[in-house]
Amino acid sequence: MDTSSISFTALYTGQVWYENGLSAPFFSTPRGRLMYLGMQPLEWMSEKAFGTNLHHLLLQRHHIMDYRIAELIEQGATQVLEIACGLSPRGHLFTRRFPELHYIEADLPDMAARKKALLDEKNAYGPHHKVIPCNILESGAPHGLDYILRNVLDPAKPTVVITEGLVNYFSLQAITPFWKTLAEIGKEFPNLWYFADCYPLEKGTKTYNFIMGSMKALGTITRAEVNPLFSSDQHAIGYLNDIGFGEVKVHEPETFYTQLNIPKSRNKTFTRVIEAKV
Ligand SMILES: C[S@@+](CC[C@H](N)C(=O)[O-])C[C@H]1O[C@@H](n2cnc3c(N)ncnc32)[C@H](O)[C@@H]1O
Repeated sequence: MDTSSISFTALYTGQVWYENGLSAPFFSTPRGRLMYLGMQPLEWMSEKAFGTNLHHLLLQRHHIMDYRIAELIEQGATQVLEIACGLSPRGHLFTRRFPELHYIEADLPDMAARKKALLDEKNAYGPHHKVIPCNILESGAPHGLDYILRNVLDPAKPTVVITEGLVNYFSLQAITPFWKTLAEIGKEFPNLWYFADCYPLEKGTKTYNFIMGSMKALGTITRAEVNPLFSSDQHAIGYLNDIGFGEVKVHEPETFYTQLNIPKSRNKTFTRVIEAKV
């Protein structure tokens, strides 16, 4: 299965991080700027009609992940693998904030090459920072998760693995082998925490119909099976527990409204950040 048709979405999210003061100018691209401008009317309408929009959802997940991952690093995690890194600024920023941190960014070969070229050009690497090609649908050398965890990462280090903006482009059936590998090999690490975003939705609500409509549109453009994966927080927790993640938490934006500078949705949010520990 070729999922490179999803890659262009990283230009859009990269632009969102930049427009909101979360990124560096060299992660902003002409196509990202165009998509960002083109989305403005839709974003405005969505905010008016539903009290939230894609912008809110992206910033909510990104801020929560940054906050929790920084806490784990302060408490002893020394290695991060950010899969589907796209043009995320996290590797660039975290390796400056935590100079001892080992940070590996990974994405499909073309996107990894693009990120690497940007970092090379600006000499923007942190002290222990690299970008590698990876494909979550492959196994073995050189792109498989099993190979990367055992041969590129140091299994002696407490480690954080991130997939931001990735898993919802796959059906539950298609993404499960990736999660199983992570949970299985994660046991070889002293500690391994996994972060991902999801958008649990109960069928039949007004929000469900609107979001499913948007997901269908995104699915057509990206030629992927965009879907909410879970029907509730409990569904997500139970599913990941069954796969082999021992402790699973699901963070909701409301918990962070007073602590973090994140957009507040008018209605109940459905952005969720999964934090699963092996
Ligand atoms: C929506 S973007 C998210 C980028 C970044 N994490 C962010 O939040 O800004 C999705 C990313 O998933 C990557 N991707 C798509 N299929 C993949 C696969 N099979 N394995 C690894 N990464 C993949 C794309 O190249 C793209 O960078």
